[in-house]
Amino acid sequence: MNQTLIIGASGGIGFAMTRLLLEKGSRVIATVRSDTSQNTERLKKLDEKYKDQIILVTMDIAQQHSIEKGFSSIQNLTDKLHLILNCSGLLHKDNGLQPEKRLEDINAENLAESFSVNATAPLLIARYALPLLRHKEKNVLSNISARVGSISDNKTGGWYAYRAAKAAQNMITRTIAIELSRRSPDTICVGLHPGTVDTALSQPFQKNLKAGQLTTPEQSANYLYNVISGLKNEDSGKVFAWDGSEILP
Ligand SMILES: NC(=O)c1ccc[n+]([C@@H]2O[C@H](COP(=O)([O-])OP(=O)(O)OC[C@H]3O[C@@H](n4cnc5c(N)ncnc54)[C@H](OP(=O)(O)O)[C@@H]3O)[C@@H](O)[C@H]2O)c1
Repeated sequence: MNQTLIIGASGGIGFAMTRLLLEKGSRVIATVRSDTSQNTERLKKLDEKYKDQIILVTMDIAQQHSIEKGFSSIQNLTDKLHLILNCSGLLHKDNGLQPEKRLEDINAENLAESFSVNATAPLLIARYALPLLRHKEKNVLSNISARVGSISDNKTGGWYAYRAAKAAQNMITRTIAIELSRRSPDTICVGLHPGTVDTALSQPFQKNLKAGQLTTPEQSANYLYNVISGLKNEDSGKVFAWDGSEILP
């Protein structure tokens, strides 16, 4: 994986994945929503340590114009990518959006925000990334999904917006894979479930987890790296868990 793009590199998994790829010798373009937020401080330290290998680009994935501008900057840095891993996602916010427990919790603005980050953004990323993927070397376009986006796996309900947006993301992954099989046949497009990982996103929901269920971002990044490394063309359009098992729609 020579030329890689990590979108959402300020997050728990995004940062761990960025560091892992740098340690493995990849060149990493790492995007952050804002380069002034506290979350980007540790990335700036990586930037100092690996200054010839990492470049930071700002991209707010909830804004189409920002994704377009971000990819225009990326195209000035490279003409091809071997891995795009979108590690951004949204489950809750300090004020406002929270996973719904029942129908009375449903709010149209929150649904729209969740869809914007978890479903629309992956599709827009594919749109603007396409010119960087249409080369003759194996490459991977991947989004971090979630097991709760599987309709057949939904036994407990709740979390309407996040579940539905991740299910939509999985449909988008499948549909992109079909188009790219014709237009960019060396691109493998997949969704990846990282496990239950100790990050800001899962933090409020950790207390009822079984012992051993929570993994560190570093463990999850290692697992995901192995899954990505083993992907084959026929895997395109599917969603895989951290252990390499396929998650059915
Ligand atoms: N943690 C888990 O247990 C778990 C389980 C299943 C799936 N996932 C999925 O794994 C992925 C990574 O999540 P995480 O656990 O690492 O959570 P996290 O630490 O909260 O990271 C979320 C990332 O998304 C970015 N983001 C959100 N909205 C954005 C926007 N509008 N523009 C740009 N960036 C934006 C955040 O940027 P800021 O730093 O600027 O906020 C942050 O980098 C997500 O897709 C999540 O759904 C996580």
